Amino acid sequence: MKKVKVGVLGAHRGRTMIEYCKNATDAEVVAVCDKAPYELEKVRRDAGDLPVAYYDNFDDFIKHDMDAVVLANYANEHAPFAIRCLDAGKHVFSEVLPVQTVAEAVALVEAVERSGKIYAYGENYCYMAAPREMRRLYKEGKIGEFEYGEGEYVHNCEPIWFEITYGEPDHWRNNMYSTFYCTHSLGPILHITGLRPVSVIGFESFHNARRFRQGSRAAAYGIEMVTLENGAIVKSIHGGLYKNNISYVVYGSKGRMESAREDAGTGGVDRLYVNADAVEGDYGNEKPVETYLPAEQDAESANYGHGGSDYYSMHFFIQKILGDESADVIGVYEALDMCLPGMFAFRSILENGRAMEIPDLRDPAERERWRHDTACTDPNAAGDMLLPTCKGGTPDIPMEVYDAVREKWETFLAEREKED
Ligand SMILES: NC(=O)c1ccc[n+]([C@@H]2O[C@H](COP(=O)([O-])OP(=O)(O)OC[C@H]3O[C@@H](n4cnc5c(N)ncnc54)[C@H](O)[C@@H]3O)[C@@H](O)[C@H]2O)c1
Repeated sequence: MKKVKVGVLGAHRGRTMIEYCKNATDAEVVAVCDKAPYELEKVRRDAGDLPVAYYDNFDDFIKHDMDAVVLANYANEHAPFAIRCLDAGKHVFSEVLPVQTVAEAVALVEAVERSGKIYAYGENYCYMAAPREMRRLYKEGKIGEFEYGEGEYVHNCEPIWFEITYGEPDHWRNNMYSTFYCTHSLGPILHITGLRPVSVIGFESFHNARRFRQGSRAAAYGIEMVTLENGAIVKSIHGGLYKNNISYVVYGSKGRMESAREDAGTGGVDRLYVNADAVEGDYGNEKPVETYLPAEQDAESANYGHGGSDYYSMHFFIQKILGDESADVIGVYEALDMCLPGMFAFRSILENGRAMEIPDLRDPAERERWRHDTACTDPNAAGDMLLPTCKGGTPDIPMEVYDAVREKWETFLAEREKED
């Protein structure tokens, strides 16, 4: 079988995709790029004898002979690299999020269109067992037309913050706002129903002691209340509440499906409850709730993180490159449908809860309005449209907080190197 030649930018989260390529019969990793020597060194040690080229900068990496690039670099810097990869004739798999500004969204859509290459958005939570089964059942008509849904991604990262921000005051995780990282909660609901979001109202909590200790400048959690094209409403909540949880609920015109949420944690959601009538209004004939435990998954996925979903996002990307039109890839328009509601929810928050329309960048005419809109919390991308990280302004966090996080990170790294 032909193997797709894959390069990976970002060797931290990128290790998951490297692992996929090592085990797969349809893909091989040929190049890895990371500017952090310790990340590159770890991959090199783990790769053993595999013929992989290592780069510490993107300019050299992109010249390597490869068919596809996995972008597992900083979550707010995917779009510029995606565009460069597409323009260089490579297929692109982008980790979350796809873009950090609407201007980048316009540029990304146009790069995908002119390249003719495959763009796959790695919103792996769509491929956890329960949401995958919900999508299959929804398409089959099991619950009728979608009316209301909830998506929840609660992840208190305080115990691992040193491992994922390294004590860097300007790391994207410290600079993001409450509703930025919205696609793990909203994405699966959109993927299940296939509906487009049209407007959003945002809410955020307050900047609490937990966030302060981490060095994060965002409010503890954010909420998007999203109206979809058919008038249905979705509540999407995500952030650092104290106990972790992932869950999804969809109500239709003749039934409901929900993933189990009793202390579900972040490992992935598999158990699913379905309570649906054969036809609308069939109330006289109460059906027992059906339980799916777990929905059918490929055996191979058991070896991967996030409830096996890390397997599917890469598997579908590679299958699509190899010509399988049915591969369940999340393309650029759907990626933006998942991401823009978070961006516009924050604008709504800053404007005291005013409802915001969500642009549909499938329409070239719509793009002109947004082509130069660089509003975001990253000073390197915002130009004169820099936003505060919270409704009340950007919290001031003293350097000692970051020093303490960095100290933990350095101890962790030294231990890791000793173990390897
Ligand atoms: N889908 C999921 O379940 C999931 C889980 C974890 C992380 N992620 C995503 O993965 C991405 C990476 O996150 P992470 O946890 O690895 O932390 P991270 O963002 O700190 O790591 C990024 C890595 O990329 C490297 N890098 C960044 N810019 C570079 C450049 N220009 N040239 C070379 N190397 C560069 C950094 O040195 C670092 O090792 C983020 O987008 C994050 O949202 C997704």
